[in-house]
Amino acid sequence: MSKLPTDEPPAAKKIDLDKRAIEILRENSWGDYTLPTKGLYPYQWNWDSMFVALGFSEIDLDRAWTEVESLFQGQWKNGMAAHIVFRRDSPSYFPGPKIWGGTHEVATSGCSQPPVAATIVRDLYEKDPQMGEERLRKLFPRLMRWHRWFHTMRVISGGAAIAVTHPWESGRDNSPDWDEALQNVDPTGVTPYQRKDLGHVDAEMRPTDAQYDRYIKLVEYGRNCGWDHSQITREGPFAVADPGITFILARADRDLRALARYLGARDSAREIDKWLRRSQLAADYLWNDQIDAYAARDLRTGRFSDGVSSVAFLSYYAGITRPRRDAKLQKTLTRILDSAPYSLPSFDPQHPKFDSRRYWRGPTWAIVNYLVARGLEEYGFAEKAQRIRLDTRKVIQNNGFYEYFDPITGAGSGGNHFTWTAAIWLAWASPMTDN
Ligand code: GLC
Repeated sequence: MSKLPTDEPPAAKKIDLDKRAIEILRENSWGDYTLPTKGLYPYQWNWDSMFVALGFSEIDLDRAWTEVESLFQGQWKNGMAAHIVFRRDSPSYFPGPKIWGGTHEVATSGCSQPPVAATIVRDLYEKDPQMGEERLRKLFPRLMRWHRWFHTMRVISGGAAIAVTHPWESGRDNSPDWDEALQNVDPTGVTPYQRKDLGHVDAEMRPTDAQYDRYIKLVEYGRNCGWDHSQITREGPFAVADPGITFILARADRDLRALARYLGARDSAREIDKWLRRSQLAADYLWNDQIDAYAARDLRTGRFSDGVSSVAFLSYYAGITRPRRDAKLQKTLTRILDSAPYSLPSFDPQHPKFDSRRYWRGPTWAIVNYLVARGLEEYGFAEKAQRIRLDTRKVIQNNGFYEYFDPITGAGSGGNHFTWTAAIWLAWASPMTDN
């Protein structure tokens, strides 16, 4: 009987992929830090770097710690760990350090990004506590200050959910979650500029010009108020409570509390406990009954986004449970998994705004898959977690280490030789990680 074709490539190819993933990490590594990919993203990005650290921890734990330490060179006096650390100017990227006009001594952007760092630091530490202890002691106060910054600067009074004040802060640049709030940002008078991203990647895979004008307008607003983050959150043109950051921070708070215990830092543990109590309230605020999922919510109008983004399922990763709600959330997840052969799509394939190729409006991202599946696994949804993991494996095996993937066809899109995709392969998606 002839063998049916499968998605499984021959074993030899799998070994090559492990080797290739390591090469990508090394090729994109610039001494102490790693670029997401050459050309399109020529600096150090915050959450990219933390996934990179996870990848490096499989092959070189010392280098993994160094990646985290170098990110914190971009930490501001107010505690914010910046979303991009520039260090130098590169002509292939816009907007560069001058446009941001950051106030920190090392050139950075003026907003932050999803705080996966504390979770990854815990992973690194637990791999080899003896090796990590001194490094953890130095990093711990920095992580505390960054989390405190989120809990004070990105929450509006009386609220608990964490806001993003620029779509770039969410890490999900052009998600439909921001459409309505972004529409209310008036782009009139934006200083003329030239996009650089379109020189690297097809326009149909990237955010539109109308969105870009508003992104730049928001940067100009921040720069003009001297990056006063409290003012930006309270009165700026854009503030949306984000389930992505809210859940990632809640998880990171839990891991930071574990680190505080390792170090015997009791006062810090107490402060973190307070933050953690608020995360349940934040989840309540973000639950959208209309779509049976957590959703982004515009803090200026109170209105919800009406579509399901993949980050809605990070509540498990955050450690937040509400039995009746979870039953509904699981149904929503089943529906979405059933509608995308290469899951997890970043946006609901049944929603009119779904676009399978355009960045955060549909494509599957290995890093989000990793986070969502990690939470699902911890809560006993092993089958769904494994489905997401094997889909991640399949798209990488079939295409290589692309920035993201079409959830319907599985095709690779965006930048190639992408560091975080290689890192997730090494840490989680490769058959080498089966046990
Ligand atoms: C894009 C992504 C963001 C990522 C960055 C570098 O802006 O939306 O999540 O950190 O590229 O890869």
